[in-house]
Amino acid sequence: MSDRDIALAVIGGTGLYKLADLQDVETHQPVTQYGAASGPIRIGTLAGHRVAFLARHGEGHSLPPHKINYRANLAALQALGARRVLALNTVGGITERFGPRVLACPDQLIDYTWGRISTICEEPGTEVLHVDFGEPYTRALREAVLAAARGAGVDLVDGGCYGATQGPRLETRAEIARLRRDGCDLVGMTGMPEAGLAREMGLDYACLGIVANWAAGAGPDPDEVITLQDVLDNVAAASSGLPDLLRALLAG
Ligand code: HPA
Repeated sequence: MSDRDIALAVIGGTGLYKLADLQDVETHQPVTQYGAASGPIRIGTLAGHRVAFLARHGEGHSLPPHKINYRANLAALQALGARRVLALNTVGGITERFGPRVLACPDQLIDYTWGRISTICEEPGTEVLHVDFGEPYTRALREAVLAAARGAGVDLVDGGCYGATQGPRLETRAEIARLRRDGCDLVGMTGMPEAGLAREMGLDYACLGIVANWAAGAGPDPDEVITLQDVLDNVAAASSGLPDLLRALLAG
């Protein structure tokens, strides 16, 4: 890898609009064949490596999950030289191991989203790809993330199934009960089509789920109302180990 290559691209989710510690930052505003990315891509140095950061919802959180141009975001990162993408996704926890403020590296997903452009094979004349997606996250990158967390002393739950819902509203208790029966441990609104597109584009891709709340009816208080402030407070608290985890990942 040359020192101009991007060692890692990070896509930040709700509550994660910049990467602390990124030095010597240059800003790119790429427009791709799929349109414009969610916002500026900031490329800088972290622990001696070039790292790109993009806020998935735009820097002012102006894009709801179904309006994000997932293709443009990934294509822009790829055009700038990224080969590995770590997706930070704010999620709700459904099963016991995934309470608020937990960090998780899921290994499976179920897609409940609809009406989103979910392939790069739409344009007339493009070859239709039926990519293998049995293991939706890149194993080597997941293992590197898990090893980095161990090395940095950051608690990270290994595995779990991410259910991707349409949003932007949160789910009903019945919807979460159904996701639990389906085998989902986490629920979020942005995990798909991002992961599938990354696979089509040949990018290594792993998800770091940041649990912001118990999903509807999943916690000890079944009547709990989820507020944005709780979500943001829990994301901030759960993210405190992220800089160390990223440094260890880059060093690994
Ligand atoms: N559901 C869906 N997406 C989310 C949640 C949730 O409970 N919390 C944070 N993102």
